[in-house]
Amino acid sequence: MADLKWWQTAVFYQIYPRSFADGNGDGIGDFKGIIEKLDYLFDLGIDGLWLSPHFPSPNWDCGYDISDYMNVAPEYGTLDDFKTFLREAHARKIKVILDFVINHTSDQHPWFLESKSSRDNPKADWYVWMDTPPNNWQSCFDGEAWTYVPERGQYYYHYFMKQQPDLNWHNPDVKKAMWDAVRFWLDLGVDGYRLDAIGTIFEDANLTPHEVPLDLAGLRDASDKAKTPEEKQQVEKYFHDMFKNQWSQPGMHELMKELRGVIDEYDGDRLLVAEDENIAYQGNGEDELHLVFNFPLMRTERITPSHIRRNQEERLAELDALPVKGWPCNTLGNHDTSRIHTRYGDRQHDAELARLHAALVLTLKGTPFLYNGEEIGMTDLIITDPTKLRDTMATWYYDRLVNELKVDPQEAALRAGTMSRDKNRTPMQWSNNPNAGFSHPNVETWLPVNPNFRNGINVRDQQNNPSSLLNYYKRLLQVRRGSSALITGEYIPLNTSTKDYFAFLRKASDQTVLVILNFSNKKLDLDFSHTKEIKGHELQILFSSAERLKTAKHPRGLAVSPFEVFIAEVAAKQ
Ligand code: GLC
Repeated sequence: MADLKWWQTAVFYQIYPRSFADGNGDGIGDFKGIIEKLDYLFDLGIDGLWLSPHFPSPNWDCGYDISDYMNVAPEYGTLDDFKTFLREAHARKIKVILDFVINHTSDQHPWFLESKSSRDNPKADWYVWMDTPPNNWQSCFDGEAWTYVPERGQYYYHYFMKQQPDLNWHNPDVKKAMWDAVRFWLDLGVDGYRLDAIGTIFEDANLTPHEVPLDLAGLRDASDKAKTPEEKQQVEKYFHDMFKNQWSQPGMHELMKELRGVIDEYDGDRLLVAEDENIAYQGNGEDELHLVFNFPLMRTERITPSHIRRNQEERLAELDALPVKGWPCNTLGNHDTSRIHTRYGDRQHDAELARLHAALVLTLKGTPFLYNGEEIGMTDLIITDPTKLRDTMATWYYDRLVNELKVDPQEAALRAGTMSRDKNRTPMQWSNNPNAGFSHPNVETWLPVNPNFRNGINVRDQQNNPSSLLNYYKRLLQVRRGSSALITGEYIPLNTSTKDYFAFLRKASDQTVLVILNFSNKKLDLDFSHTKEIKGHELQILFSSAERLKTAKHPRGLAVSPFEVFIAEVAAKQ
C-alpha cells in the first residue's frame, strides 16, 4: 500500500454540522459537540471527515450560501474552536476536508453587497449581470434564474436560490479571492476540499433558452405524478433539457487545473473531491481533481447485482483509460439524498439490505464515503408541517403547489416534505434520552428528531448490542483496514449473469479476497472450485453477516444464507 496516497486508502465520513452534536444546548450542532464525538468516530474506524459547510451563512440553503469564506458560523463556534477540532481530529489520525462552495456566494456576502450597489463599483463584474433576463432559464431551487436589483437596474443570475448569486468565474479577481480562501484553510492544516456543485460554474456563452414546455414548479409537479417508467423517463429528460445549458460548460478543465495547482503548492498531499460524476474532471489522472463521486451507482430505485456490475464495468473502464489511472470513489448517501435505509429498502428486509449496502460501499474498489447516521440505520423523517421545514427548496415548492397549482394544502405539505432534504438531515441519534441525546432535553432542535431513536436506532443502544448495525459497521471497517486486497486490489467480477447475488474478487499482489453479497432471500449453494483465481485454494473466512465462525471453507458446496455478506481470503490449502 506504500505507493497509494492517504485518500486512496481512507474511509470518509460526512458530518453535517447542524445535525451532528449540539455541545452548547441551543438545538443546533456545533464544534464543541463534534469534538466530544471524535472518540466515537475514531472508535468507529473511519480515517477522514468531510465537513459540510461551517462558514458564516444566512442559511437560506443550510450553509451552502456562504457570507464569509474565512470564518466560522457563530452558531458552530469560533475559529479557535475550529482549530481545536482540527488538532483533535489529527491527533486521532483523522484527516479533515472542508466543503467549498465555489459556484455562488450568499447574497449577504460583502462581495455581492458591493457588486449590487452600482454598475461601476470595483466588484461590479464579480457576478453575472444582464440588463434584461436574456432567456427562460430556471433556478433549480426557486424558479426564475434572473433576479432584479433596483440599485443597478439589472438582473443577476443564480442557478440555486435567489439568495445564492452565481460568481463570474471569467473574472480573474474572483479567482484570486477564492484561491486566497482556499489557501487560508490549507494554511491552517486542512487536508483538502469537497467542491460543491462544480458543474454549475459556467453557463452557455450563447445563453441558449431551454425548450421544455414547463417551468420548475410544473416540472416538479409532473415528477411527483410520474408513475410509469415512460413518464419517469420523460421527466428525467425534461430535467436534463431544462438545465443542460446551465451545466458542464467549457472552461472547467482549465479552472480545475488552476485549482489543482493551488492545492499542490501544499506538499502534494491534499485532496480535491468534487460533487460531480464526470470522470473527465480527473483530467489526465493527476492534473485536475483527485476524485469524483460514483453517483451513477446511487441512481437507481433498487441496488441489484446487474446494476452494480454494469456500473463497475463502465466506471472502472473509464478510470483505467486515463493516462494516469484514476481512482474510484463510492457512496450511497449524503445530505442531499434520501437515507440509504429508506431509499433502497423494500419495507420487508430493510435491515438486511442496509447491511448489504454498507458492505457494498466498503468492499468495492475505491474510496468510500459514509454519511453520518447511516451506521445506526437512521431513516428519513418526512416533515408534514410546512412551518417546520428548513429546506427552502421545499418551502418554495409548497408555496407554489398551494398558490399557483391550487393543490390542497395537506397534500402539498406531504409532497413538499417528501421532496425536502430535511428528511435526511434530522439530528444524529446518540441515545434514547430526550432529543436522542443530540441536544439538551427540552430544547427545540433545529429540525425535529426522528422519534425512532426510542426503538434502538441510536448509538448508545447499539454500542451495547453486539449484533447491532453499528457494531456490524465497526467490524466491517476493521476487516477492510486489515486487508490489502479490499483497500488496493483490482476488481474481478465473478458469475456475472446471476441475478440473486453479486460475487467478485479483489486481488492485490499479496492477497486475494472473495466477496459475495446475496441480495436474495434464498439460500445459495455456490461452487467456486473452478474459478481461475480460487481453484486449488481454500476460503478463509474474514467476515460474515451471518456471524459464521472464522473457519476455512472449501470453494465447492459453499452455502450462503439469505441476504448474507460473505468475505473470505483465497488462501493456500493448509
Ligand atoms: C450542492 C450541495 C447542496 C446545495 C447545493 C447548492 O448540491 O450538496 O446541499 O444545496 O450544492 O450549494
